[in-house]
Amino acid sequence: MGPLAVTQLLALISLTVAMDNGLLKTPPMGWMAWERFRCDIDCKDDPENCIREDLFRDMADRLVEDGWKELGYEYVIIDDCWMSMLRDEHGRLQPDPFRFPGGIAKLARYIHDRGLKLGIYADMGTHTCMGFPGTTLDTINIDAQTFASWGVDYLKFDGCSSNPIEQMLGYPLMSKALNATGRPMAYSCSWPVYVGGLPPKVNYSLLGDICHLWRNYVDIQDSWDSVQGIVEWFSNNQDDLQPAAGPGRWNDPDMLIIGNFGLSVDQARAQMALWAIMAAPLIMSNDLRNLDNSARFILQNKVAVAINQDSMGIQGRRLLQEKNHIEVYWRPLSHSASALVFLSRRTDMPSLYHTSLAKLKYDTGNYEAYDVFTGSTVTGLNATTQFTLSINPSGVVMWYVPLPSIKRKMY
Ligand code: GLA
Repeated sequence: MGPLAVTQLLALISLTVAMDNGLLKTPPMGWMAWERFRCDIDCKDDPENCIREDLFRDMADRLVEDGWKELGYEYVIIDDCWMSMLRDEHGRLQPDPFRFPGGIAKLARYIHDRGLKLGIYADMGTHTCMGFPGTTLDTINIDAQTFASWGVDYLKFDGCSSNPIEQMLGYPLMSKALNATGRPMAYSCSWPVYVGGLPPKVNYSLLGDICHLWRNYVDIQDSWDSVQGIVEWFSNNQDDLQPAAGPGRWNDPDMLIIGNFGLSVDQARAQMALWAIMAAPLIMSNDLRNLDNSARFILQNKVAVAINQDSMGIQGRRLLQEKNHIEVYWRPLSHSASALVFLSRRTDMPSLYHTSLAKLKYDTGNYEAYDVFTGSTVTGLNATTQFTLSINPSGVVMWYVPLPSIKRKMY
């Protein structure tokens, strides 16, 4: 370890309360460019889809005008490929002058004027994952200050092109540097992804102290396989991951891809349902200018959003994996309510699933259940009542279950 690293390590040790700025008491909601628009910088041949300021203004307009903002979708997040290849004469990151001619501060004003918040992307390392300028240990402070001066509200801090020691020093230092700016900024850390996502290499209690959310696992792609693989990994490791989450500290299984090309309607409902159970960030990466109604209805489902945003902030768990590839997920909610998701991982036909609330560990009592995606209510259930659900292949049935005998106005 060189002299610089030692100094930084001392700074790390002096780190006390880092990211306790009261943000993200519930998982963040919004829109992010990456999964849908990637690193398309070809504004000549693909002006509608390239990473430039117009794309973010368009998405901000859609969030406000199409009912997203009032549901809580408030962050507009720039991902990789916004930068110029060179820092300015003061060593500051700067946006590509052709694609962001107004600069980021102006874009932030546009977004703030509409009651939304702006997120930006940087990378702990020599280069971003797509080869743009990275943030090394000696530029952490200046980059945090630059983002604050532009009015940025959220930083996604990736980890390409760095080693585990630089990450161990850099992620806490960025937390401290963001705090020192005095501007409340949400801080999303990709650190766990780069060290395998699990203890002992990942210290989730430290992470919860310095970051508001963190990417644990691989990048989502536009396919059901990808969604399924992510859910499988999170569920297989839920004993390590689930306790790490809570208000102000969230696991991030990555973006919602609903409205793109890879998911059927049933699979889209499944992603929404499972992200709600997992208390995951609801950050869409799709084209809000061209979204079909089925995707819109799923993403704007008020009960699914309310379950995701529940104020207790307890992440749910996979309860059961049946031999016939039906799985049951459960999340406790405030006021003793709960949510259940019945997922079919089958590929044949709608399957009938016979169970009772008692089998799912519910106490005795009289229940009713609200079916989140069909809007129907199942009444007259007590814990031992046998019921049968029909679950489509790669689809879900999602229930909101209020506390027995209290009829809450969720719907
Ligand atoms: C990594 C991240 C992605 C995205 C790309 C950008 O792969 O995990 O979410 O930010 O980098 O290059």
